[in-house]
Amino acid sequence: MELDDRFWEERYRTGQIGWDIGAPSTPLKEYIDQLEDKTVRILIPGGGHAYEAEYAHRLGSRNVFVIDLTDAPFKELLERCPDFPVDHLIVGDFFAHEGKYDLILEQTFFCALDPALRERYVQHMYHLLNPGGSLVGVLFDDPLNTDQPPFGGSKTIYEPLFRKHFKDLSMEPCSNSIGPRNGRELWLHATKASDYEPIDCNVYDHYEAAATLERNARFTLADGSTVTGIIGDLFIRDGAEWMRLKEGREIRLDQITDMTFAQFRS
Ligand SMILES: C[S@@+](CC[C@H](N)C(=O)[O-])C[C@H]1O[C@@H](n2cnc3c(N)ncnc32)[C@H](O)[C@@H]1O
Repeated sequence: MELDDRFWEERYRTGQIGWDIGAPSTPLKEYIDQLEDKTVRILIPGGGHAYEAEYAHRLGSRNVFVIDLTDAPFKELLERCPDFPVDHLIVGDFFAHEGKYDLILEQTFFCALDPALRERYVQHMYHLLNPGGSLVGVLFDDPLNTDQPPFGGSKTIYEPLFRKHFKDLSMEPCSNSIGPRNGRELWLHATKASDYEPIDCNVYDHYEAAATLERNARFTLADGSTVTGIIGDLFIRDGAEWMRLKEGREIRLDQITDMTFAQFRS
């Protein structure tokens, strides 16, 4: 059986959408409820009618994207929520999709895929996440079908697949599943390691002192180049520490191998 766009379109056309609960599932809803930062880039792959996307949008999230093989379910989403940005509804294959996200929400997408694609699923999720970003959602803890979706499994089967990429991983029995899925779901939380190693706090103190005293400094960077300037600001972005020089240039702190001061205050 080819699980392609025609297969899924036919399911929507004929109303064979047993997975569709008509609202965001409780685990996803409660997770979305506690998201404070409304600017994070969220992707919902295999989103279907995308109730989670609508819910997050209504709560103020402005960077919610949905990708699905077919646009059949998007029409209904736009009827329910006409101000959902159309250009955030992507029709295409998740595995061919490129982009960077802080959060990816899983809701009955993993179980819709041929199990032979699971390794690629994990690999591509990892690829789409920004460092420090997370894949969060529910997986069935139930064997389910072997010949057609939904395909199930258990923590014992899933965990080694996810561990290959995600060191920071938890997959525990879900405590707030909807009634019919009660006891049959795992709550997945997998975070992509940040590629940033925080710098030594003594070194950071030197940068702070240099910024406070407005000292003109010369920085040697990991690529051998040098930059001279006064530190205007020290800040954190995407889990990494940065400085902005007064003339505007930004330098990630772990790229600095040396700092020396000009003899006189500028
Ligand atoms: C079981 S449905 C789940 C829909 C939605 N998440 C929900 O819970 O209502 C699976 C969805 O994944 C989509 N899909 C399947 N394979 C896909 C792929 N390779 N890329 C993007 N979407 C895909 C299908 O079109 C379908 O809408």
